[in-house]
Amino acid sequence: MNTNHERRHSSRRSRFVEVAVTTGIAFIAPPALGLPGGIAGYSGAQGVDCTSCHTPVPEGPLATVEVIDVATGLSDPSMVEVGSTRSFMVRISGGPAVVCGFDVSTQGIGELVPSASDSGVRAQQGELTHTMPRSFSKDATCEFAFDWQAPISPTQDPVILYAAGNSANGNQSNSGDAIATTTHAIEVVPEPSSQHLAVAAIAALGIARRPWERRRQPSSP
Ligand code: HEC
Repeated sequence: MNTNHERRHSSRRSRFVEVAVTTGIAFIAPPALGLPGGIAGYSGAQGVDCTSCHTPVPEGPLATVEVIDVATGLSDPSMVEVGSTRSFMVRISGGPAVVCGFDVSTQGIGELVPSASDSGVRAQQGELTHTMPRSFSKDATCEFAFDWQAPISPTQDPVILYAAGNSANGNQSNSGDAIATTTHAIEVVPEPSSQHLAVAAIAALGIARRPWERRRQPSSP
């Protein structure tokens, strides 16, 4: 009897510890910048998204998030040459549609970089997120622009850009918002051969010049 009670008690305690630890992680992870200022790690790439904290209104309007390749204007999969930079846009629609926020991740493949055309985007842990909630435009969409630089060699599989968007009600809390997630495939393709040759030639020149430069430099002590 006693043992049974104890066992029950201790299992309840370990459940408590488990919950505390899980919740603890969720609340320690955000940076000192503060929650309205965006958050990395919740794009869906790591198996969690904004619904970890944002509770949708049951039967409320659903949100949609799209990743648009600015070069094509489409949300179809992209083809990007090795080492080159492509502009993308995250477009959020539906939901309460007062303010929005986002998080995108390529799981560290290539480089996500804030674009000069959108100062409301910041980098965090290799991902990009909003600097502050953004108001929806009159056409009931909310967009963030950013760039992605492809790796210097082709990847075996397409790179997956994970995106999470929040169409929020602007109540400065995590209640009554609508979260949507999507993925966008990017095929990293070799550059055209003429360009490839030009780059190789420049690289060769660079290599050829370096020993000459070294000879001209005074020898170090
Ligand atoms: C760890 C918990 C947590 C996670 C995860 C989280 N948020 Fe939040 N978010 C909050 C809290 C708490 C607030 C309210 C804070 C405030 O405004 O002072 C908030 C506020 C917001 C707001 C303003 C909401 C409004 O109605 O005014 C936006 C937009 C937002 N978050 C976007 C996101 C997005 C996008 C994600 C996922 C990529 C995300 N959040 C993930 C906790 C979180």
